[in-house]
Amino acid sequence: MSFETILTETHGKVGVIRLNRPKALNALNGQLITEMNAALDGFERDTTIGAIILTGSDKAFAAGADIREMKDKTTADVVAGKFLADWDHINGIRKPVIAAVAGYALGGGFEFALACDTIIAAENAKFGLPEVTIGIIPGGGGTQRLARYAGKAKAMEMILTGRMMDAGEAERLGLVARVVPVEKLFEDALALAEKIAALSHPVIAAAKRAVNAAFEEPMSAGLALERNAIYQLFDLDDQKEGMAAFLEKRPPQFRNR
Ligand code: CAA
Repeated sequence: MSFETILTETHGKVGVIRLNRPKALNALNGQLITEMNAALDGFERDTTIGAIILTGSDKAFAAGADIREMKDKTTADVVAGKFLADWDHINGIRKPVIAAVAGYALGGGFEFALACDTIIAAENAKFGLPEVTIGIIPGGGGTQRLARYAGKAKAMEMILTGRMMDAGEAERLGLVARVVPVEKLFEDALALAEKIAALSHPVIAAAKRAVNAAFEEPMSAGLALERNAIYQLFDLDDQKEGMAAFLEKRPPQFRNR
């Protein structure tokens, strides 16, 4: 499948989606979202792929929803067109998605990074939800995710002012897993993705689902989901192989089943 607003590639068991609208700092227009969702689906279907990296350029992960495309829309337009509904697609991807963020991750760009399973940031990364400065509020999950991940006071301060935070502040808040020099960003994200992709894919999918439940379910439901998930894994060949390999002091040969 050929795309115009993204680039895709594979590195062994890792699928890479690179947002690629350099003239608009990777602003997220309808075509880009459609293409990104198609690429996510392609990697989700590809049984050789065990992890996905979502990234942009050294200057911008993405500077938000495309303001040119939104400017003249009315409420009737956004309701009838189900504006932003297809932004939720990433939430249904079972394989881990790692955001590798350099430069601006603003508005919808930050929201997509927050929707990923973890974020590696370059030292020049700038995160923000500046929507109020252009007369709207975050609509891609930012009000909910930032409040849950960073706490109410920080989310309110960021969202009510639209200010940006740098990579160091994002790391202190636990929003990003690690900060690396910009020239090492892809290499580090790839190393992380490769490490995950080498493990049993159904086990990793179960682990991802269980951690995400911590943010979506009450504690009792999350704990029940976790317990049910670990029970299910005992029927996998990969559970038998992983434990046998440990006891036989050899590397496991996972077959993703
Ligand atoms: N939409 C459309 N075009 C954008 C864009 C966006 N979100 N962000 C940047 N661009 C375009 C600019 O219009 C400019 O295009 P031209 O060269 O044709 O004029 C080009 O990208 C480069 O941008 P700047 O000249 O502004 O670059 P800069 O280095 O001076 O500033 C910036 C960079 C601070 C990121 C600035 O571009 C900016 O503030 N962008 C908008 C950020 C924003 O408000 N994002 C939120 C969007 S709303 C949203 O995302 C809603 C939601 O939750 C779903």
